[in-house]
Amino acid sequence: MNFDQIWELVEPIPGCYQMKEMELLTHTAQGCIRVLEIGCLAGKSTLGIALSMGSGDIVVIDPFLQGDCPTAERLHRSMKKGNVSYKVMEIDSHLVSAQDIGSFDMSHIDGDHTHEGVLADLNLCASVTDTIVCHDYQNQGLPGVTSGIDEFLNNQQWRISDKALSAVEIRKI
Ligand SMILES: C[S@@+](CC[C@H](N)C(=O)[O-])C[C@H]1O[C@@H](n2cnc3c(N)ncnc32)[C@H](O)[C@@H]1O
Repeated sequence: MNFDQIWELVEPIPGCYQMKEMELLTHTAQGCIRVLEIGCLAGKSTLGIALSMGSGDIVVIDPFLQGDCPTAERLHRSMKKGNVSYKVMEIDSHLVSAQDIGSFDMSHIDGDHTHEGVLADLNLCASVTDTIVCHDYQNQGLPGVTSGIDEFLNNQQWRISDKALSAVEIRKI
């Protein structure tokens, strides 16, 4: 499926991903067999990843905290348009350990937007994958995301390999 077809299907789903950001996310997901996502809301990013993968497995971690999306029901509705199998862990990502989830071709982080939350999610993802896409980097309304990612990048073992608006792809060096 090409990007225009993917965007047509994901665009109506509520969520904050803009087109250029989705292009980066789906490009990174191409060819992946196993993907981890932290923070799915109604599944806009999840479906984009799934359509780009074509087949495979996604593990989604989200306790569904947001008032307008308090259950996984909208995620399930969104994912009907895709063909990948997915497993939902309705839990705070900070309670998940690497042993619980196995290894992945890539991770997507868009969950807890605090400094400590982003850093904890990055450390979890870094122990299960070499490629991570984060949303909201340099989003001025969410300074903890930027400071969390910058602190993580200071360990010198990871670098930003691609960026589109507030979506960044970071890879292990
Ligand atoms: C900005 S929304 C995600 C948007 C989604 N990625 C999209 O493209 O539409 C943030 C989501 O992160 C979830 N969340 C917040 N804190 C979390 C945590 N500690 N672990 C996992 N998910 C979390 C919220 O429940 C919410 O669904």
